[in-house]
Amino acid sequence: MNSLNYYDNIAHVYDQTRWLTESVAEEVADFIINLTRAAPKTNFLEPGVGTGLNVFPLVKRGYSVTGIDVSQEMLDQFSQKFNTTPPNLNLIHADASQLPFSDNSFDVVLTVHMLHTVSDWRVFLDDIHRVLKPGGFYLNSQWITPPARKEFEGYFREFLDKYKGINTKSKGVNSAIPEINTEGYLNHKGYVSNYLIAKEWTVSNTVEELLNLFKLRPYGLCWQVSEDIFHKVLKEFEEFCIKHYGSLKTILSSEAKFEIWAYSLPLTP
Ligand SMILES: C[S@@+](CC[C@H](N)C(=O)[O-])C[C@H]1O[C@@H](n2cnc3c(N)ncnc32)[C@H](O)[C@@H]1O
Repeated sequence: MNSLNYYDNIAHVYDQTRWLTESVAEEVADFIINLTRAAPKTNFLEPGVGTGLNVFPLVKRGYSVTGIDVSQEMLDQFSQKFNTTPPNLNLIHADASQLPFSDNSFDVVLTVHMLHTVSDWRVFLDDIHRVLKPGGFYLNSQWITPPARKEFEGYFREFLDKYKGINTKSKGVNSAIPEINTEGYLNHKGYVSNYLIAKEWTVSNTVEELLNLFKLRPYGLCWQVSEDIFHKVLKEFEEFCIKHYGSLKTILSSEAKFEIWAYSLPLTP
């Protein structure tokens, strides 16, 4: 599998293997609407929209939402959430590294888990600046992996690493965002920044449920080995889990957060 079709291949299991639920997304939408003082005519853009987990509630509430994604399968998953695509939702199959919009087009641009994927983040931020209307908001967000799941994933990585020649120490999205100096870059352009936690919630899964999610190979690390090795590792890992966690029925609970770095350009009087 190459990086271009990675999301095409996991689109059908994307939502079920992530931890942002519909009800949490609704609360996050309330938060974003308040933060951006959204009016009925406020329009939103999400480059790297994926299956629409973040903006689905905004579309349902009638806001105009445009989503771009390189993966047609991810976009199809989003469209399938509606009987017919609503007129206030515009989905574009394209690389968001260059935004295909005229200047001053959007009130709010939202990116979630995607800034690390564009070819040049500085050029991308310039483009977001260009398409934002005066007084608009850029919200760079992430919903970090809950610590118990992160630890589980870490153990799994160690099993993968036991196989010679396999380097699974990939940079996750959580580490990628701080490496990109969005704040410094946008502050330099005059943006005011504000770090906010839109929502904290508890994510609970049994060890068995997490193992079953991994079996679907929905995360990047799962694709770094062949099918054969993956199944061998899973078998070994399951034995480890029984010993380490005491039982496959053990519940792992920890807090997830929806974090937003909100940027806005003060309007000149
Ligand atoms: C980690 S997923 C996040 C999806 C969604 N934002 C979410 O929070 O659930 C990253 C998404 O960005 C898309 N993507 C990656 N690089 C892209 C690019 N250069 N242009 C547009 N979409 C891109 C992927 O296809 C995928 O749907």
